[in-house]
Amino acid sequence: MSDTIIDDVDYGPLAGLVGVWKGDSGMDVAPEPDDDEHNPYYETITFEAAGDVTNAEEQVLAIVRYHQVVYRKSNDKAFHDQVGYWLWDKATDTVIQTLTIPRAVTLLAGGTAAREAGRIVFTVKAVAGDPDWGIVQAPFMQSKARTTEFRHTLILDGDTLSYDETTVLDIYDKHEYQHTDQNTLTRQ
Ligand code: HEM
Repeated sequence: MSDTIIDDVDYGPLAGLVGVWKGDSGMDVAPEPDDDEHNPYYETITFEAAGDVTNAEEQVLAIVRYHQVVYRKSNDKAFHDQVGYWLWDKATDTVIQTLTIPRAVTLLAGGTAAREAGRIVFTVKAVAGDPDWGIVQAPFMQSKARTTEFRHTLILDGDTLSYDETTVLDIYDKHEYQHTDQNTLTRQ
């Protein structure tokens, strides 16, 4: 248990995320008006222990802040930037990912952390309209490029971190388009 504690805060399953991670085997599948776009990428994700917070003098959430910057292999330009928090509620063993991208989309995804032999599998999900784990987006995005669902599985295995995420979009003439991203990263 003690290896989940940093500066007196128990981060539970989030503790092993803290650090700087890099991966160069990413693959993005994103919408284009007439087709899919496949974008090989590399990225850096930085996770920082950020203490804890108490809500209504009752709920305690451990906080890990993160920043993800993704670069297109074809031109070395950053093409996705994401900030947010991973939170852990020890009392209920609930895991939460908050996520903001600079397209005027933000969301709150809730789920679990399954401890398996030597690894932790985080699974979170948000659905537009869900009163608990929802998605907020600006009017333009609501009408032209609406995010209806977000599913994310993140697997922490020592110094290896891999993820598989699906963002479901209504865009152009595509309904429930599966915008997907996968990568495997190594602790630096
Ligand atoms: C590694 C992660 C991600 C990468 C590399 C990525 C990349 C892309 C790319 C290349 C496009 C096509 C439009 C363009 O070329 O600018 C796109 C569209 C979009 N992405 Fe992502 N994305 C990622 C994650 C996400 C996440 C987590 C969300 C929201 C939860 C999201 C929401 C959107 C939306 C709403 C669009 C439609 C906008 C448009 O195509 O005009 N993306 N993304």
